[in-house]
Amino acid sequence: MNPETRQKIHEKYERELQRGERFWPDSIFKDAIMALAIFILLILLATFAGVHDSPKADPSDTSYVPRPEWYFLFLFKFLALYAQIPVLGKIEWIATALIPGLALGVLTVLPFVDKSPRRYYAKRALPLGIMGILVWGMLWLTILAEYPTVASDGSRVPGILQAIAGILLPLLAYTAFAVIAYTLKERAPRAILFTGLGAGALMAGFSLLSMALYPPSHKETVEHPTGLVDQIVAGQDLYSIHCLECHGEDGSITVIQGVPGLEGKVISPINSRDVLYTVNDASMAQIIAYGRPDSGMPPFGKAYNPEGLTRAEIDYIIAFMRYSWDDRYEKPEIKPLYPPLGAYEVPSYEVHIAPIVKRYCLSCHRPGKDSNDYFMDTYENILHSGDNGDRNVLAGDETSFLLQVIQGQPILNPDGSEEIGVMPPSGTLKPEVIEVFHRWVLMGMPRTAEEAARLTWPAP
Ligand code: HEC
Ligand code: HEC
Repeated sequence: MNPETRQKIHEKYERELQRGERFWPDSIFKDAIMALAIFILLILLATFAGVHDSPKADPSDTSYVPRPEWYFLFLFKFLALYAQIPVLGKIEWIATALIPGLALGVLTVLPFVDKSPRRYYAKRALPLGIMGILVWGMLWLTILAEYPTVASDGSRVPGILQAIAGILLPLLAYTAFAVIAYTLKERAPRAILFTGLGAGALMAGFSLLSMALYPPSHKETVEHPTGLVDQIVAGQDLYSIHCLECHGEDGSITVIQGVPGLEGKVISPINSRDVLYTVNDASMAQIIAYGRPDSGMPPFGKAYNPEGLTRAEIDYIIAFMRYSWDDRYEKPEIKPLYPPLGAYEVPSYEVHIAPIVKRYCLSCHRPGKDSNDYFMDTYENILHSGDNGDRNVLAGDETSFLLQVIQGQPILNPDGSEEIGVMPPSGTLKPEVIEVFHRWVLMGMPRTAEEAARLTWPAP
């Protein structure tokens, strides 16, 4: 480039610089273009990506933990970290109103304070440093929002590491910026740049350290059934786990059996018109959520038990009850619990036993229930848990305890103490279901469908 052109370009630049850029219409025009682009992007996202389906809101669920949208997560995390500060942490409005208010105030007055005409970044180190640390801090606070402030063992270390990254270091950086700008004047930009980079690196370091040492507690991702059929099936599974022990598989129980504390209690069958026609969905949901404390029906809602049923789950149970028992509802076609057995077919745990146990046995035979500590929640537990342990299912043995009790044959505990009653205590299983258990045990309890496919049942 010859010196002449260079001179020309420089002059043109100086002229432009002198003239400046007008706020109206130049800047406004650029802003409008950007706003339009984001608006179109939002429309495209809403059209093609949409939002995730989540279960219905439940106003009575007091255990619900609300979480802000992602773009507010940094404030949310900031509040959580701030709340750990002794004494000051108790004064919530400082973190919820005062500090964000001050930050917004500073941003609002910044253009009036910083009137330097310079655009070259090295000449604008202070405002860039302030903004840079702010945005960098917001980024890390947003990421950290997924991570616990208090570790699962009660340790406060993660919160302290995060507070260093998200509150202390930015504060120190700002203090340093102010001191540098005031004392170094001309040589300040370089020092501010290095201080800013150093503080930024430390912020990232402390955040990453806390993330590596204290990962978020594992959360299950729950599938939400969408169609009516899926909801009915989900409701039936929930019913089988929570309600079957007292009300029976088909809601027909009138005398409770095998439930400690309620033995022999007479109840109205909940599959009867008497109940279904007189109790509407809203009252049904109430009964399930709050129970009937005087009569022995326990509450299942979240208000009583964080592990309890959500409002959506209660709705699925009600859908199951209505579509299965209420003659005003027409039940849609629903896949059978397990594929019917062929004449020579051997059932497997995966395909047959697991869904049957889930529906008919799990409500009493799971951790937390005192049914001789026989837990039927996994393959191993079905084979080995329980007071009678391996005696319950013995490969190829007709006298396996499980086979006896489901065939209406009560047995004496080997130590001669108590009798084990018939299972399920409230009535007998359908003959097809008993046949599945029978073939499964006699053929050696195959676990997978492939294992079962290699075996043949010697049909009569
Ligand atoms: C521990 C035993 C037990 C369990 C488990 C149980 N219930 Fe009940 N349920 C009862 C008793 C006892 C009553 C009281 C009947 C009465 O008031 O006469 C009752 C009453 C009801 C009623 C009201 C019937 C009426 O007469 O108006 C409904 C509906 C009901 N239960 C549904 C359920 C559902 C759905 C579940 C599963 C989420 C469930 N119950 C789980 C014991 C139980
Ligand atoms: C209403 C609750 C309930 C249901 C449903 C139920 N059980 Fe039981 N089960 C018990 C209780 C309680 C015991 C302890 C013995 C007793 O009191 O009869 C028991 C004991 C057993 C035992 C003996 C365990 C041991 O190690 O001593 C077997 C086997 C068994 N159940 C199988 C089943 C099977 C299979 C099903 C499903 C088809 C089933 N049960 C459903 C309540 C239940």
